[in-house]
Amino acid sequence: MSDNRPTALVTGASAGLGEEYCRQLAERCDTIIAVARREDRLRALQAELAGTTRLVPVVADLATVEGVTRTVEALRQQGPADILINNAGFSTFGDFGRSVLEDELRVVRLQIDATLELVRAAVPFMRERGGGEIINVASVGAFLNMKQTAVYGGCKAFLVSFSRALQAELASDNIRVQCLCPGLTRTEIHDTAYFEGFDKARMPAELWMDAAPVVAASLAALGQGEVVVLPGSVNGQLAREGLQQLLQSLQ
Ligand SMILES: NC(=O)c1ccc[n+]([C@@H]2O[C@H](COP(=O)([O-])OP(=O)(O)OC[C@H]3O[C@@H](n4cnc5c(N)ncnc54)[C@H](OP(=O)(O)O)[C@@H]3O)[C@@H](O)[C@H]2O)c1
Repeated sequence: MSDNRPTALVTGASAGLGEEYCRQLAERCDTIIAVARREDRLRALQAELAGTTRLVPVVADLATVEGVTRTVEALRQQGPADILINNAGFSTFGDFGRSVLEDELRVVRLQIDATLELVRAAVPFMRERGGGEIINVASVGAFLNMKQTAVYGGCKAFLVSFSRALQAELASDNIRVQCLCPGLTRTEIHDTAYFEGFDKARMPAELWMDAAPVVAASLAALGQGEVVVLPGSVNGQLAREGLQQLLQSLQ
């Protein structure tokens, strides 16, 4: 740390929740290591936040070994990170039995492999420095039947289980672990070619949140002791009761 303010590493910082984490952490952080593939977006965010924080863009595809290696190197050279936010994610959409296996494996590499690599790289530094914060972004889908996003849902369920165990292991090192489980959030994730078959308009308005309150709920919950954080009251109900029951209660 170059002053008393912490350093954060945020993956998926070029859009949606990751970009919002950078904005909401800017006042608090001396440095934010911002990772994504789209350099122009990261540069624009760097310019927007200049004067508030030092944003270091790291252009990396976290579904590849090279991209993860570049990010771990950045964590060592620009960090170490006091706050690690494993947020980058995407999903395929459709029947797993007809999907392109390589695309499904990229979902796993991005959400599971990259998360494990970055947590493993960050934790020794956090231990040495007497503490830290790790946020793994999962989904309320971790608790639902994720038909048509089976691999994505499986990864999110892994992140919930992993985060709970990790918190139990790291609590005595003053390292706080959170697994954020957002519901439908207005970002770019549903705008990819994979989601052509998904009609956003069919999902009731009550299920949607903006990125800003989701991130605010995540950061406010840090340190409150809960590993699993479901932002917004509707997502708690969704996780407990399932989609069909929730939709009936909204009618
Ligand atoms: N939006 C929702 O409804 C929702 C609900 C539940 C959970 N989530 C979770 O929230 C997290 C953030 O998603 P979002 O909704 O903010 O989506 P988004 O707007 O599409 O943003 C995704 C971010 O991940 C980055 N990314 C994607 N593939 C990458 C790769 N291979 N390497 C590096 N970065 C990559 C993207 O940057 P580049 O394209 O520039 O690489 C982008 O910055 C994800 O883990 C998602 O699963 C979202």
